[in-house]
Amino acid sequence: MPIPIVLDCDPGTDDAFAVLLALASPELDVLAITVAGGNVGLDRTLANTLALTRLAGSQVPVHKGADRPILGAFFNEPRVHGIDGLGGIALPDGGAPHPELAADAIRRILRTSPEPVTLVGIAPVTNLALALTTEPALAANVASIVLMSGAWAEGNATPAAEFNALNDPEALSVLLACGRPVVFATLELTAQALATPERLAALRARGGGRCLQTVCDIQATVPRSRRLPAPPLHDPCAIAWLIQPSLFTARTCSARVDLGPGIGRGRTAIDRWNRTGDPFNATVLETLDGDGFFDLLGERLARLP
Ligand code: BDR
Ligand code: CA
Repeated sequence: MPIPIVLDCDPGTDDAFAVLLALASPELDVLAITVAGGNVGLDRTLANTLALTRLAGSQVPVHKGADRPILGAFFNEPRVHGIDGLGGIALPDGGAPHPELAADAIRRILRTSPEPVTLVGIAPVTNLALALTTEPALAANVASIVLMSGAWAEGNATPAAEFNALNDPEALSVLLACGRPVVFATLELTAQALATPERLAALRARGGGRCLQTVCDIQATVPRSRRLPAPPLHDPCAIAWLIQPSLFTARTCSARVDLGPGIGRGRTAIDRWNRTGDPFNATVLETLDGDGFFDLLGERLARLP
């Protein structure tokens, strides 16, 4: 039986790979895609999600979500994702979103699904937290929460914080306290999914259709990383965990997020060595077979139109 998921995203160059990987994979039943602002403003992330689903020929409903975090405003990252969020690569118009707003759709799905639903967050997790804050009992129908978020060491948006965690730490703290396990694909994990020129060339060489070639065009616009030898494909790691967990090693642990106003805001304290003795509320993905991950990505994206 495919795993029922709701995918919450903010495309975003690496989100584009994640959305298409999810849509291309029979192991997953994508019940809805919900969209937040983040990498760029909500107007763009929403249009990008709609365009990507149309490119894939998918009928999955796309729901408009939060244009700001629970507190303050989203920081955007146009230097990495381009001012339009997809590196300036034009996609055909994807039409209009479903009329139901994201948090309403997430609650409805959790209320009515006959089996527990996995919530996948590859953006600031405002939409997921709003849904669970307004009807906390629905957490009982959450199978798990799989996030690209956080870091056990240094951040990428600040010295302390990873971009998605920094962009709504209050929302992340809601998920960590909801009673369901949270799986973290952190920066340390995604640093093992580097889109090197050789791997991008191998992806292109698979042929495939417009989807595969378009995401390769999008990825080619991502600037060099200051931290790493090549840009990481962060977000599809969260999807790959659900499709092929044998690519990963993982450990259970406790995790918290720093909500203070200073330089540590958004830092995730992922207690891999159980120093706190806190109850375990998380699984941290630690290692990834990078070549296996890119094989999976290529094989799946080549199935799309
Ligand atoms: C995360 O931040 C965004 O820029 C990416 O899409 C990814 O979700 C990486 O820190
Ligand atoms: Ca993202």
